[in-house]
Amino acid sequence: MLVRNVAWSDFPELREIYYLLYEERDQGFPIGITLFADRPSLVDEIDWFAGGYRHVLAGEDLWSVAEIDGHVVGACTIQRLGRGPGSEHGHVGVLGILVHREHRGKGVGSALLDHALAAARGRFDLVRLSVFSVNTGARRLYERFGFVVSGHVPRGVKRGSEYLDEEEMVLLLDPVPAPLTNA
Ligand SMILES: CC(C)(COP(=O)(O)OP(=O)(O)OC[C@H]1O[C@@H](n2cnc3c(N)ncnc32)[C@H](O)[C@@H]1OP(=O)(O)O)[C@@H](O)C(=O)NCCC(=O)NCCS
Repeated sequence: MLVRNVAWSDFPELREIYYLLYEERDQGFPIGITLFADRPSLVDEIDWFAGGYRHVLAGEDLWSVAEIDGHVVGACTIQRLGRGPGSEHGHVGVLGILVHREHRGKGVGSALLDHALAAARGRFDLVRLSVFSVNTGARRLYERFGFVVSGHVPRGVKRGSEYLDEEEMVLLLDPVPAPLTNA
């Protein structure tokens, strides 16, 4: 597996991984990520990708992708919460992660978090995320990387007529202390 920064040419495979979520939902699988009622069009997806890629090129956001046998199988983004000059949210990153359904549970998500969080140190002071309370696998994964629950949002998501609770999680990226010397 190779984990690297996103490239412009990754769009078709990333779009496919995202579209598969709508198939999973329609087949009745519980999807731990917020979706739209209808799958966004290709035009909407192009806009979304171009917008995200632009922020990466500008050095504002981070976007890691995992590749297996030359194919993209997952991605992790850390988007800057405050973008304007001098924003008081400019130090906060918001994390999102998604792995192709056929590649889950094999360490791809962990490798993506390793890559993205290493890159985030020195660029963000903290990383936040929201996770469905029922998504216990993902919560355990985040806890393994040091995220702690900072809040509970009852009915944070409404999917059709069903409400789902969310947990807010946070990881403080304190600077790594310099090693002690005897000098
Ligand atoms: C959550 C997700 C990104 C984790 O990636 P992954 O590649 O499956 O994670 P890894 O293989 O590195 O780690 C597996 C850990 O995650 C857990 N996990 C979470 N969702 C899982 C799934 N669908 N299948 C298998 N393991 C899953 C496992 O229990 C395991 O925990 P453990 O090490 O304590 O046993 C991925 O399962 C996914 O894309 N899920 C659908 C979208 C989603 O829920 N995104 C998170 C939104 S907050």
